[in-house]
Amino acid sequence: MKQTKNTPFQPRLTVVGAGPGDPELITLKALRALECADVVLYDALVNPRLLEHAPARALKIYVGKREAEKSMEQDQLNTAIVEYASKFGHVVRLKGGDPFVFGRGMEEILFAQSKGISAAYIPGISSSIAVAGSAGIAVTQRGVSRSFWVITATTDLGTLNPDLQLAVHTDATLVVLMGLSKLPEIAVEFIKVGKSNVPVAVIQDGTLPTQKVVVGTASDIAAKTKVAGLKSPAILVFGEVVHHGLLQNIDPEILALLQAA
Ligand SMILES: C[S@@+](CC[C@H](N)C(=O)[O-])C[C@H]1O[C@@H](n2cnc3c(N)ncnc32)[C@H](O)[C@@H]1O
Repeated sequence: MKQTKNTPFQPRLTVVGAGPGDPELITLKALRALECADVVLYDALVNPRLLEHAPARALKIYVGKREAEKSMEQDQLNTAIVEYASKFGHVVRLKGGDPFVFGRGMEEILFAQSKGISAAYIPGISSSIAVAGSAGIAVTQRGVSRSFWVITATTDLGTLNPDLQLAVHTDATLVVLMGLSKLPEIAVEFIKVGKSNVPVAVIQDGTLPTQKVVVGTASDIAAKTKVAGLKSPAILVFGEVVHHGLLQNIDPEILALLQAA
């Protein structure tokens, strides 16, 4: 927030969703927030092109958040947000997808507020829906799936999320985030309940030019994904919607026309 003689200095935090990867899949409100940032603290899955919307004078600090990558601990990060806001004014905390979907956005807001920093949230398009969609898969589809679950593959301890055992018994679409390394174990949960033929898609770099999609069933998806060499970030989509999508029918010409310059 640009501080002027008439507006007293005020530390603020805006937790902003950056969308799933394509730099044009961000909201207008998020861009407004970036335009008046004094500091931008951004995560690994944020498209770096979005930083161009912040003023040249704003500090832009990478606070990486990727599995297997050394990133700032959450406690340190919460403290850093408060310190930057107190010293510089408006901190924009830019996070991949939506900050409230496995994004720890609420923790950061609550911590800042507990230290007297006013805070706001701007939603983003979550990869959980948009990445499936960009591969031509609708997470719900009339007559095919009337609900969808979005789950993380693991607990805080790194063990398989016990919610999986519930999810495999439903006909809902199951979208798993942070699940690529656990794909073989997750597929086994479907096989154990007699669903070895459930369709599965694994989508890497969704919405980006580097997007890759592998399709199979619970019984062969782990092997196919390994052969294709897919890497994180990726989402896993289990359910009949995978077979009812537009995987073959997305018009590349329309997408090319809409591609950011
Ligand atoms: C820590 S979670 C954050 C999710 C984010 N808040 C959201 O709403 O999309 C990170 C995970 O999101 C998924 N993800 C995010 N962006 C993605 C993309 N462009 N393509 C595939 N998966 C993505 C991956 O499963 C990744 O491991």
